[in-house]
Amino acid sequence: MLLLANAEAWPGFATSVDRLRGGMPSLDAMVEGIGLVERETKVRSVGHGGWPNMIGRMEFDAGVMDGTTREVGAVGAVPDTLPVSKLALEVMRRLPHVMLTGDGARRFATEIGFPHDETLLDDSRRVWWERLQRELSPEDLARFPDIPLVPLSRTITDPERVRDTTVFLSADRDAGIHAATSTSGWAWKYPGRLGDSPIPGAGFYADSRFGAAACTHTGEMTMRCGTARTIVLALRLGHTLHDAVRLAAEELAELREGFLAGVVIHAVDAHGQHEVVNFRCEGEISYWLWTDGMAEPELRPATTL
Ligand code: GLY
Repeated sequence: MLLLANAEAWPGFATSVDRLRGGMPSLDAMVEGIGLVERETKVRSVGHGGWPNMIGRMEFDAGVMDGTTREVGAVGAVPDTLPVSKLALEVMRRLPHVMLTGDGARRFATEIGFPHDETLLDDSRRVWWERLQRELSPEDLARFPDIPLVPLSRTITDPERVRDTTVFLSADRDAGIHAATSTSGWAWKYPGRLGDSPIPGAGFYADSRFGAAACTHTGEMTMRCGTARTIVLALRLGHTLHDAVRLAAEELAELREGFLAGVVIHAVDAHGQHEVVNFRCEGEISYWLWTDGMAEPELRPATTL
């Protein structure tokens, strides 16, 4: 049994480990841990602690994949709802669909008993509004948000320069290999923007026969490259995990146009191996690992390419 997650998973990782130890199904165990990450306001890229979109609304993305059945549930740009990773799991379990977005996802949440959450922190609202005041003329501020937003998407930058996510991957010989993700997405994103976290094949993918992968940071790149699926397909074609991850990184490096920044790739294979690789992200990147041979989860440094 192995559980892998990115550094932002700290509020919920130990809970997921406990649930796995207790025999809870892997996706439920990961979603329970992610729910704690989503509620932790110190995590500024996931759930309640995240930054709002350009018009000051929180919009969440999440995805889950059962690597044994290859069923997927995903939600994108969902307002007023936590835990969204749980909502993604409910999409997978209750609907014939893979993904719901926006108002439809919120309608589904209401229908199955999720409360309306006030998810915009006072601090996030203050920072968002102060930025708008600096960027906009008094006339545009008075008309906001009924102004063109495209120029703002070029001028306002992320307050923490992160486009992060939380990603969890589990692998077990009997229980299979599974993936779960959740994010509040890119700060000040254009309303309705989806990142890679709800996009199977880009932000996550799992196939119990071969392995799984999940990405953090620049979804605009992994969506263009199908990064998570590339890794699992490379495993299927006989590449080692080490080579599969580097193949996916090479594809990211081949991008020349569009928005380009960093990506962190998390991956596991069906032999119990794992890789966490930092492709052009600034600063130290670390990740959480627990295997059933470990007394406690360990925070380890990622490999920088
Ligand atoms: N990887 C997170 C995002 O692009 O929203």
